[in-house]
Amino acid sequence: MRLAAGLLLLALLGGAAAARELSASVNDNERREAEGKASVAAAKPGAASRFLKPPCFVPTEYAPYQKCGLTNNATLCGRGYLAFPTEDLCCAPQRGAVGVWASGCTDFSKTVSCWVAGQYFPTQSCRPSTEFATCSRNWGRWASEDACCAAGAAHTEGCSEALPCWVADAWYPARTCGKTDDQGVCQRGWGAYDSVDECCAPGAAHSQGCGAVDAAEVEQA
Ligand SMILES: *[C@@H]1O[C@H](CO)[C@@H](O)[C@H](O)[C@H]1NC(C)=O
Repeated sequence: MRLAAGLLLLALLGGAAAARELSASVNDNERREAEGKASVAAAKPGAASRFLKPPCFVPTEYAPYQKCGLTNNATLCGRGYLAFPTEDLCCAPQRGAVGVWASGCTDFSKTVSCWVAGQYFPTQSCRPSTEFATCSRNWGRWASEDACCAAGAAHTEGCSEALPCWVADAWYPARTCGKTDDQGVCQRGWGAYDSVDECCAPGAAHSQGCGAVDAAEVEQA
């Protein structure tokens, strides 16, 4: 009881980063495995009518990491479910006509293990780091964004007001970018853009830019 209350408090006070770290270390493997089994069970033949010609992308790993990979296996591509024309569609964090897992493919770059000083000028920020050498030293690293951003921690006056950023937020039926204030995402150093235009440009968040997924891409046979 006391532990549960403590965890709740930690989640509330420590914010998303601490909660993410905590749940990542405790529950992720079990959750991924359960989700993998559920998605296989849910994807009955005929549930989605994508009978693709090889090559295509299919789920290749369910636990502990969720991955999609390219296959030339005509049986897998033609089975009509859990087969996708692109890796983006296979990895999209939604489930149904696209996406294998509600949580998407494992995002290896997103695992936050500590927070360090980010930008010093003109704005002051903290950024997540997963570098072992950085996170294991006994100075200049904090367990959460809030701790890092507190006055006197990474910056004398604390972090300045955090700016939002734009990231890919949907893959089908249209590729779009959405705004987020999550600094774990904005400061991660990849796939986050200062404006919707930059995010939507071809080769940025989506290799083909924002827009409707064209019919040829989700080819039906
Ligand atoms: C294609 O996948 C099916 C189903 O997993 C498997 O039974 C078959 O052996 C595979 N074919 C080839 C050529 O690998």
